[in-house]
Amino acid sequence: MTIHNFSDDLSILNKFISEIRDATIQKDMMRFRRNIERIGEILSYELSKTLNYNKKDVTTPLGTKTMNLPTNEIVLCSILRAGLPLHHGILNYLDGTESAFISAYRKHIDATNFEIKVEYFASPTLENKTLILADPMLATGQSLVATYEAILKNGTPKETHIVAVIGAQEGVDFIQDHFPENTHLWISTIDDTLNDKGYIVPGLGDAGDLCFGPKL
Ligand code: URA
Repeated sequence: MTIHNFSDDLSILNKFISEIRDATIQKDMMRFRRNIERIGEILSYELSKTLNYNKKDVTTPLGTKTMNLPTNEIVLCSILRAGLPLHHGILNYLDGTESAFISAYRKHIDATNFEIKVEYFASPTLENKTLILADPMLATGQSLVATYEAILKNGTPKETHIVAVIGAQEGVDFIQDHFPENTHLWISTIDDTLNDKGYIVPGLGDAGDLCFGPKL
């Protein structure tokens, strides 16, 4: 797996990450969702540099210009519900991309142990396409792996890109062991640890709740 980690880059991405982490600023749900969306836009711009391009003549009112345009057939799959603003941000730049949605949640066996339950799944064929999996919080990596295994019944993608906002080193190591070698991970930043509930520390808290409010 190739890891593109933007933690040490000096760019405006840092401001968006600091705002979603900040315990005061993150209380503004609209700003939180919009910041996740903006991060999705930046990461998909970076990802776009690895797509395939063909030359195409574009006719302007004054002449013709040959341009390199992306040719990949892309399917973007997001995990409900926290993945939605990231999904939207990626679609803002990679428009024309097909969408897939899956629900994966932690079913707690006891206070510290859980299994990943995959239920709802809607996707076009993935056969020979470029698959992008979007998950804002790459914590244990188990939801991403469960999602990938579930969606493969709709075909084998040519290549897979994972887009994540904040990861934990443990989760990055886990997915590295479970995804094909030619997978790319695009991630804004990687934190050191997980707490005993599987939350990233310092992370930002519960991304789904911060986007949409707490659930029962
Ligand atoms: N999901 C979240 O929303 N936050 C975490 O820290 C880990 C998983």
